[in-house]
Amino acid sequence: MRHFLTLNDFSKDEILDILNLAAEIKKEAKSKNYISYLKDQTLAMIFEKSSTRTRVSFEVGIHQLGGKGLFLSSRDIQLGRGEPVKDTARVLGRMVDMIMARVYKQSDLVELAKFSGVPVINGLSDDFHPVQLMADLLTLSELGLNLQTMKVAYIGDGNNMTNSWLMAASKLGFELRVATPKGYEVLQWVLDIAEKNAKISGANLIITNDPKVAVSGADVVTTDTWVSMGQEDEKEKRIKDFAGYCVDDAMMSLAAKDAKFLHCLPAYRGYEVSQSVFEAHAEEIFSEAENRLHAQKGVMVWCDRKRYE
Ligand code: CP
Ligand code: NVA
Repeated sequence: MRHFLTLNDFSKDEILDILNLAAEIKKEAKSKNYISYLKDQTLAMIFEKSSTRTRVSFEVGIHQLGGKGLFLSSRDIQLGRGEPVKDTARVLGRMVDMIMARVYKQSDLVELAKFSGVPVINGLSDDFHPVQLMADLLTLSELGLNLQTMKVAYIGDGNNMTNSWLMAASKLGFELRVATPKGYEVLQWVLDIAEKNAKISGANLIITNDPKVAVSGADVVTTDTWVSMGQEDEKEKRIKDFAGYCVDDAMMSLAAKDAKFLHCLPAYRGYEVSQSVFEAHAEEIFSEAENRLHAQKGVMVWCDRKRYE
């Protein structure tokens, strides 16, 4: 059985296989041909944090695949009152076919995977957001970018999205430039993994505190909120510390001609991205959001198939 906890658990070929499967399922869905690949299966969806896209895309996705999604807020289930993850995993594993969880600690996902006996999908943790990256990669490939040779610039906080971009680049081999303010760099353990992967894939990883260095000539520019879920108390300090990191027209003008801009959303205009850049790239951004649905259907079907191989 395979889980989907971080892209680091996947080979380049596996990531590309899942993307191809997602593209195929998307094509079927676009012609209203919803094939019940997961007929009568149940997906438990645990949420310790808020969500719009992840909740809706998984719930609609499992429905379109012929199954049913169960929304389980940690505020309502016993997990939120202290029932161990290990016990929650063993209960759910006896009733549902797959689990998606949005949690604080990545180690809770590992625990769910270890004890549930069913595939577990990471719907965002403090460390990684791999399903978002699958949607981003699907979007870029639809926009005609080569997932092995493109140059991507990530501008902003060294967070779960940055870590996931590092896993994607280092596995697939594309160039990733990461610019964070001082004090908000990607953690060393993540860089160690990425650099090890990059030795095999040939990916060029550039880590800097200068957004201009990162964005210069990039084919794709991306960013994320400066204040991730759980960091609300640091908001004021972060807004000061991230001065100069807003992706605005001046910054985009340094990127390649016709460079794409992605944002996982929710976006905070005037902070990590200007209103003008956001609206100029709205088509890309909302295709990226739509692709959460298609990419995750690919992930769910792929994980299900792996159970029977
Ligand atoms: N991008 C993303 O995961 O959005 P939600 O927090 O709305 O799920
Ligand atoms: N880094 C953000 C991503 C939201 C989808 C957060 O964790 O809040």
